[in-house]
Amino acid sequence: MRAEFFRLDAGHLDEVLALEQRCFSMPWTAKQFGLAFEQKVFSVFGLRAGGRLLAYASVYHAAGELEILNVAVLPECRRRGLGRRLLGLLLQVARKMGITRAVLEVRTGNAPAIALYEGLGFARAGRRPRYYADTGEDALIYTLNLV
Ligand SMILES: CC(C)(COP(=O)(O)OP(=O)(O)OC[C@H]1O[C@@H](n2cnc3c(N)ncnc32)[C@H](O)[C@@H]1OP(=O)(O)O)[C@@H](O)C(=O)NCCC(=O)NCCS
Repeated sequence: MRAEFFRLDAGHLDEVLALEQRCFSMPWTAKQFGLAFEQKVFSVFGLRAGGRLLAYASVYHAAGELEILNVAVLPECRRRGLGRRLLGLLLQVARKMGITRAVLEVRTGNAPAIALYEGLGFARAGRRPRYYADTGEDALIYTLNLV
């Protein structure tokens, strides 16, 4: 699928919210996104085709570190390499910015995301017990050296 990589801003809020709500049990709200977009260290990148947002990833970047907050692909577009492509492009941007390390948290039960991250070279660096309030799942911490 030919999809264009682009950076989203507050003007894309409705599209991000629609995707977010289809992908997460505890979606970010318009208010959370609105506040995040006001911060310089927050960015959202996406893939779109035919005018439709297919995938997005949100990040914080500060002190030489990229924190990947969320990655989501439309349910009907999964397993086509979009998640891997989006994160690959995002990590390229981060390297160009001089960012040396990427870090993220993932639910222990999220096998698709864990496989995606491990496939990109992320390594398990720790665990936060019962981190997710809705299910009581642990969070696994993954990191990737970018240098
Ligand atoms: C996790 C997610 C972003 C993956 O996106 P995707 O576009 O389907 O992933 P890709 O097609 O790029 O897959 C890349 C690799 O990840 C792994 N993977 C992806 N989905 C998988 C699944 N359902 N089961 C097992 N492995 C999976 C595979 O190793 C895959 O490589 P392969 O297809 O060559 O075997 C997507 O499933 C999603 O949006 N999930 C809901 C939101 C979420 O949980 N986000 C992550 C937490 S923040």
